[in-house]
Amino acid sequence: MFSSANKSTIYGILLLLSLVWCNVKADDNSVDPATPRTCYSCEGINCLRVTKVNETTVCTDLLDYCVTVFRGFTVVARGCYGDLQSSYRDKCDLNDHPECMKCFGNRCNDKGRADFKCIECKSSEDKKCATETSAMTAVQCPVPTAQNSYCFVRESADEGTIRGCFVHQRDQEECLSDTKCSMCLSDDAEACNSYKVLTAETAGVSGVFSNMNVIAPTVILTVLASLVRSI
Ligand SMILES: *[C@@H]1O[C@H](CO)[C@@H](O)[C@H](O)[C@H]1NC(C)=O
Repeated sequence: MFSSANKSTIYGILLLLSLVWCNVKADDNSVDPATPRTCYSCEGINCLRVTKVNETTVCTDLLDYCVTVFRGFTVVARGCYGDLQSSYRDKCDLNDHPECMKCFGNRCNDKGRADFKCIECKSSEDKKCATETSAMTAVQCPVPTAQNSYCFVRESADEGTIRGCFVHQRDQEECLSDTKCSMCLSDDAEACNSYKVLTAETAGVSGVFSNMNVIAPTVILTVLASLVRSI
């Protein structure tokens, strides 16, 4: 259909496009040594507003870096370490405090606590997601706007099994009111969402089996009774 000259032009354009795409992606967090970093920023109650989750600030100092400060699992401040009030900075001055997350890229403070991880998968993309989760590595969740972060497992007829993080209030409420969605909070255990969720189909099967105790004697008695009568 295409002459070979046309083909190489097309390949050339595709190669160029993929290079541009890779550069755009790489640029996102990479740091220009001559420019202070840009960090996501919020303070207090604003950290719990979904509409403000993408607000940023440019650090004053060239050497400053981004942090997220938590109280429990709730975000209380995000921004440039040096520009935060000292009351927020305290946890960041202790080594590896779970309630301060530091990072050194541009806009890199977009994750939840480093010790909070969930298994993230879809059975439509990876069959193992439904049952064999033991070999899967859990991932750090996005920054929460809800007071708590949860891992979830959801079953649906068209999408199969989905596992991941729920960090926004709305997702968490939807899951709570969905009979095929289950959440867990892993305080110290990583990846609490590796369990199976009972679906209508599996519940139906196990329902019959758990009724076996009642059904079996009834059937036996009925059979015996008809035997006795036929004698
Ligand atoms: C924040 O940015 C993410 C990623 O670019 C986007 O999906 C999301 O809709 C944005 N949220 C708001 C409130 O603008």
